[in-house]
Amino acid sequence: MSSSLPLIEQFQRAGQAQVFAFFDQLTPAEQARLLAEAGEIDLAEVDRLNRTLVAKNAGAVGVNLDGLAPAPYELLPANGGDAAAWARAKTAGEDALRAGRVAAFTVAGGQGTRLGYDGPKGTFRVTPVKQKSLFQVFAEKILAAGTRYGKPLHWFIMTSHQNHAATETFFTENNFLGLDRARVHFFRQGRMPAVSFEGKILLETKGSLALSPDGHGGSLRALARSGALDLMQREGIDTLSYFQVDNPLVRAIDPAFIGWHLLHRSEMTSKMVPKAYAEEKVGHFCVQAGKLIVVEYSDLPMAIQREVDAAGKLRYLAGSVAIHMLDRDFIRRVAAGGEGVELPFHRADKKIPTIDASGNPVKPEKANGVKFEMFVFDALPFAKNPLVIEARRADDFSPVKNADGLDSPKTCREDQLRQFARWLNANGAPLATDATGLPAINFEVSPLFGYDEDSFASSWSALTAKPSLTDGLYLT
Ligand code: UD1
Repeated sequence: MSSSLPLIEQFQRAGQAQVFAFFDQLTPAEQARLLAEAGEIDLAEVDRLNRTLVAKNAGAVGVNLDGLAPAPYELLPANGGDAAAWARAKTAGEDALRAGRVAAFTVAGGQGTRLGYDGPKGTFRVTPVKQKSLFQVFAEKILAAGTRYGKPLHWFIMTSHQNHAATETFFTENNFLGLDRARVHFFRQGRMPAVSFEGKILLETKGSLALSPDGHGGSLRALARSGALDLMQREGIDTLSYFQVDNPLVRAIDPAFIGWHLLHRSEMTSKMVPKAYAEEKVGHFCVQAGKLIVVEYSDLPMAIQREVDAAGKLRYLAGSVAIHMLDRDFIRRVAAGGEGVELPFHRADKKIPTIDASGNPVKPEKANGVKFEMFVFDALPFAKNPLVIEARRADDFSPVKNADGLDSPKTCREDQLRQFARWLNANGAPLATDATGLPAINFEVSPLFGYDEDSFASSWSALTAKPSLTDGLYLT
């Protein structure tokens, strides 16, 4: 006990004595667990966040909109961009892939709460015929790109405390989805304590804190802490292709994107898609005081989101699809912090299961406290030569976020079908579609057959006998 006294005292001095209110009622094992959790907490950080984000006089929570303007971006050739520059970028990206300089990185720490799915979100099944999981789709894209460029890729996967074990078990039970297990690396993101509106750290039970993942921005610290950056360095990998676990359409390995990033000597490059409509819930690429930033939909007043230019086009058109290229040494610099380079925390008011003063469980019906999260796009203003390039939504973005309606399993399945149909049509195999490009048949293309236009075209032209395009077709 004596060695634990300093920690308990530190909490008392920080005004957080409630954390140990039930300590004497706990078994030694429970006491040890609570002490371990408390030991993870940076009390000075919690105090700073309480003063800056939680306290009543913390000032307006939200972003400062002074001098905000839409960010410039590299247009796709089809929309007036420089075709020669895109071709140069693609070549540079392919060279980097052949040289083994690139690894894939998936942030998969979030829970599928909005989807109503119990389990790591990456295990959710999304494809139209084979019902492959999100992880399976990414694994096959990564495997196929490694084969195409003659260098198998490493894949880093960030999990959270909630889903780490289940994620590893899924990969083990599924034979690492066909990948070499030595090239698949899991690591856990950090956790932050939730606090009440009075800034008191909340207990989930008498013997445990209300802890939650520190946001996808925590990935930069976690990449450093886990040794992933050192591994990259040893393997000669200097570029990380970052994407979210919810988006199976993503071009996980996109040579032109890699090439733009490298040729521009950018430390962080991001993809945008033109927003589909003003109210679309995505982040917005903006510039402010000469820095590239992303302003979340929840922070940008709707009147600004609806502003149009003389031609009637949305001014804040550049939507963030959460796909980035990151330079390894830049990640190290941001993870280390200091010298004004520090990802800010954001406040989210949530319903946090906790206990009352007598230790009875409380399931709140409205928000009762605050969670703190970091966002990876907040690294952009610290990056040298940051860059935004345009992506085709139909080829890069169809996330699964909600059980029904927008961004649901249904919309995602249909977008996959539209993409497969487009590839067939572009290769002389006409497939009837409706006006939205949705084919009448249900079929599937394995990423091992084609994971982008180029790879699909090579595999299709190599087929001596073309299959008949009927329901249930699976091209692999
Ligand atoms: C996010 C972006 C938004 C973007 C949109 C595109 C934020 C705040 N917003 O919205 O700008 O336009 O995606 O789809 O990010 N994750 C972790 N650990 C965490 C939290 C999240 O790994 O602690 C991962 C999730 O597993 C998921 C991704 O980050 O892969 C996105 O998280 P989510 O909270 O679903 O983001 P959105 O609000 O949908």
